[in-house]
Amino acid sequence: MKSLQSFAFFLIFVVLAFDICESKDCSNPFKTIVVSQSDTSNFTTIQSAIDSVPTGNSQWIHIQISPGVYREQVFIPKDKPCIYVEGAGRNSTSIEWSSHLNATFVTKANNTVANGITFTASTIFFSMGKYGPKKNGVITAHERDSPNDTSGFVFKNCNISGTGGKTQLGRAMGPYARVIISDSYLSDVVRPEGWGPREFVGHEGNLTFVEEGNRGPGADKSKRVNWMKHLSGSELDKFLNISYIDEEGWISELPKTIFI
Ligand SMILES: *[C@@H]1O[C@H](CO)[C@@H](O)[C@H](O)[C@H]1NC(C)=O
Ligand SMILES: *[C@@H]1O[C@H](CO)[C@@H](O)[C@H](O)[C@H]1NC(C)=O
Ligand SMILES: *[C@@H]1O[C@H](CO)[C@@H](O)[C@H](O)[C@H]1NC(C)=O
Ligand SMILES: *[C@@H]1O[C@H](CO)[C@@H](O)[C@H](O)[C@H]1NC(C)=O
Ligand SMILES: *[C@@H]1O[C@H](CO)[C@@H](O)[C@H](O)[C@H]1NC(C)=O
Ligand SMILES: *[C@@H]1O[C@H](CO)[C@@H](O)[C@H](O)[C@H]1NC(C)=O
Ligand SMILES: *[C@@H]1O[C@H](CO)[C@@H](O)[C@H](O)[C@H]1NC(C)=O
Ligand SMILES: *[C@@H]1O[C@H](CO)[C@@H](O)[C@H](O)[C@H]1NC(C)=O
Repeated sequence: MKSLQSFAFFLIFVVLAFDICESKDCSNPFKTIVVSQSDTSNFTTIQSAIDSVPTGNSQWIHIQISPGVYREQVFIPKDKPCIYVEGAGRNSTSIEWSSHLNATFVTKANNTVANGITFTASTIFFSMGKYGPKKNGVITAHERDSPNDTSGFVFKNCNISGTGGKTQLGRAMGPYARVIISDSYLSDVVRPEGWGPREFVGHEGNLTFVEEGNRGPGADKSKRVNWMKHLSGSELDKFLNISYIDEEGWISELPKTIFI
């Protein structure tokens, strides 16, 4: 009886401990940071707003980007999770970056979400290195090093377009990289294969690159890499849930509903 009691106590302890760990993931309430090119009392670049997020952050940070064309590379380091980058709509806010070495938007952190932004790649694209095709660029690079990482990079209602070359949607920067692009417009700037495994050739099974509900000439999936993931019914339902931006609810649910 005694041992049964201690076992029950132990179980309760485990459940509570687990719960506390989970809720620590990304906490509410949101802290909002405004980026604006016209109101200079705010941050004027997206990167400076990200730089202002404290390392080890665990609160959702909502970076609200006012209309404008932001010519910068965006980099979110590992120790700054829980960042939600929201544009003023894909016809109003765009991020343009061209580099032969770097992706437009790089995140190494858990729980990064982008919504309502146009990502534009322009000029000439060059080889990304020995694994990349020549004349090629890339929009996203996501790093996820463990199956336990709740990290993922979600693009919604975005517009991926560009001129002067072709680009991949993403390349794996970690063996479990995870990028989801949905309800977005993809121009013919997107290369038919869509995605690249980088040095994880032969281990593509653990990469999660998903495209659902996109349109435009670059959204044709018929020539995509054959290891792309397709979300099944209930997974997709959960995923589609995030299209309803509800600041009181969904975003705090995101790591649980989408990534676990
Ligand atoms: C930043 O922008 C917001 C909304 O546009 C405005 O209310 C605020 O006064 C601006 N300045 C600072 C320092 O936040
Ligand atoms: C953006 O512009 C395109 C093309 O003009 C239009 O079809 C689309 O509805 C617009 N989207 C939004 C969210 O305003
Ligand atoms: C690529 O981005 C990383 C992270 O922002 C930076 O440290 C590096 O200098 C960049 N490289 C180039 C060639 O721009
Ligand atoms: C993932 O978590 C499980 C359960 O907590 C643990 O057993 C496993 O070692 C972890 N895997 C990695 C790669 O960290
Ligand atoms: C992401 O979250 C998982 C636990 O949910 C943690 O083990 C991992 O270290 C985190 N990754 C980063 C880059 O912080
Ligand atoms: C996407 O962005 C490009 C470049 O800004 C623009 O020309 C195009 O009309 C946009 N398309 C949609 C459907 O939003
Ligand atoms: C995927 O990751 C697991 C560990 O979580 C590993 O055992 C497996 O070999 C990996 N699969 C591939 C195809 O690399
Ligand atoms: C979204 O998820 C929440 C919580 O999991 C659920 O209550 C709600 O019904 C879902 N909404 C849709 C449209 O699936």
